[in-house]
Amino acid sequence: MSFPATRPRRLRSSLIRGMVAETRLSPEQLVYPLFVCPGEGVKKEISAMPGNYHWSVDTLVEEVRAVKGLGIGGVMLFGVPDKKDDHGSGAWDDEGIVQQALRALKREVPGIVLISDVCLCEYTSHGHCGVVSGGEILNDETLELLARTALSQAGAGSDMIAPSDMMDGRVGAIRSLLDAHGFQNTPILSYAVKYASGYYGPFREAAGSAPAFGDRRSHQMDPANAREALREIDLDIEEGADIIMVKPAGPYLDILRMARDRYSIPLAAYQVSGEYSALVAAGRMGWLDLPRTMMESLIGIRRAGADILLTYFAKEAAEILS
Ligand code: PBG
Ligand code: ZN
Repeated sequence: MSFPATRPRRLRSSLIRGMVAETRLSPEQLVYPLFVCPGEGVKKEISAMPGNYHWSVDTLVEEVRAVKGLGIGGVMLFGVPDKKDDHGSGAWDDEGIVQQALRALKREVPGIVLISDVCLCEYTSHGHCGVVSGGEILNDETLELLARTALSQAGAGSDMIAPSDMMDGRVGAIRSLLDAHGFQNTPILSYAVKYASGYYGPFREAAGSAPAFGDRRSHQMDPANAREALREIDLDIEEGADIIMVKPAGPYLDILRMARDRYSIPLAAYQVSGEYSALVAAGRMGWLDLPRTMMESLIGIRRAGADILLTYFAKEAAEILS
């Protein structure tokens, strides 16, 4: 059937378009990343990420209450410790900043999914994601420290462990230590496909985690590669990942689509700090309509196949959606 019998515009009226929308976005699919630091009464804006803050545990609790009130599904916690060392021991300290936040949130704000990022780069003095020796990031030596970090977080009340380090074998190492300590029901959301991306720039300011020398190319993926993403996903599923993530999101929609078509496991996408800050900046310059492009960026990531969306826009989006 062709024109004039067929007229796609008939279904685009404001009355009907919502009924035929193929992709939907709801607040419970959103996860809001938050940065927690020591102290009391802290709410300090991150200059490269306007509208995002360093929170102390007390102010974080109030913020997460508000986030939950918007119907947002979960929060992802990142630690901004005041002390760092060579091995990143703050990451697996039971009194570490993320562990304190988890305990407080579990007690004060039940009913929202608490996800904890597992990596060492926020806690190491050199800013690398693992143990460094002779200028190299050691893979196997790092696994034990990541697993201890995950165990400590699970013990403090984390509902979901999210390793972002990209060491080979870390999902398996974390799974077996969690299982050995009775946390066999704590799921792992693996950053399975994480590219070495310039879009992490603002986050490294936020987390104070820029590497002191070198970069992350020895463990994060080359943006040129797509087939390799499937190998990473296969490995993480074999090692026991419950949810897999692609990161960043916007520049990698083809990877999301490929993963969605090939795997039945739930799929998350991380719209990272640089994707957020670039849109916010263009909005502030008056070059883009921010609410509109924000929602368009999010529906695009859903349309590409993501079930779960990590985004610094979670609150603004949830407000628009409700
Ligand atoms: C830690 C980590 C990073 C992000 C999440 N976990 C930074 C990095 O790999 O340098 C980036 C998140 C963002 O940019 O919003 N490994
Ligand atoms: Zn890291």
